[in-house]
Amino acid sequence: MAIEYTFSIIKPDATRRNLTGKINAVIEEAGLRVVAQKRARLTREQAEGFYAVHKERSFFGELVDFMVSGPVVLQVLEGENAVAKYREVMGATNPANADEGTIRKLFAESIEANSVHGSDSLENAAIEIAYFFAQTDIVG
Ligand code: CMP
Repeated sequence: MAIEYTFSIIKPDATRRNLTGKINAVIEEAGLRVVAQKRARLTREQAEGFYAVHKERSFFGELVDFMVSGPVVLQVLEGENAVAKYREVMGATNPANADEGTIRKLFAESIEANSVHGSDSLENAAIEIAYFFAQTDIVG
């Protein structure tokens, strides 16, 4: 299996409850390594650009409002099969459907306040990482 890089966001519902360390512990326990990390307040423009694929969806406005409602932690994760592995570790988008032990089952409040984002493909991981990080920010 190849070493991959995926992109993660610890969302405002999680930073509000001071859960960054607990979420990182689940990430690390799963064998993924945090190789870049920065805490930020997204601008509306950044959030709209990041979620542009969802702009026709009914929840787009609320999603952007939520993502700018507090600090986030932007991360690059490294590991074998990192894209699929992190999606497994996160659990289903809706925490009501998430498996035991996943980040969303442990911590998420709702489908919107679902604590974390992770890239859905290797291709999108590269796009999302480049949206927030320079190559020199990533220290493997
Ligand atoms: P995320 O992986 O960050 O990608 C898009 C986000 O939209 C998703 O996680 C959810 O948090 C959010 N969202 C809000 N409402 C819905 C909904 N009804 N269906 C799917 N995603 C939703």
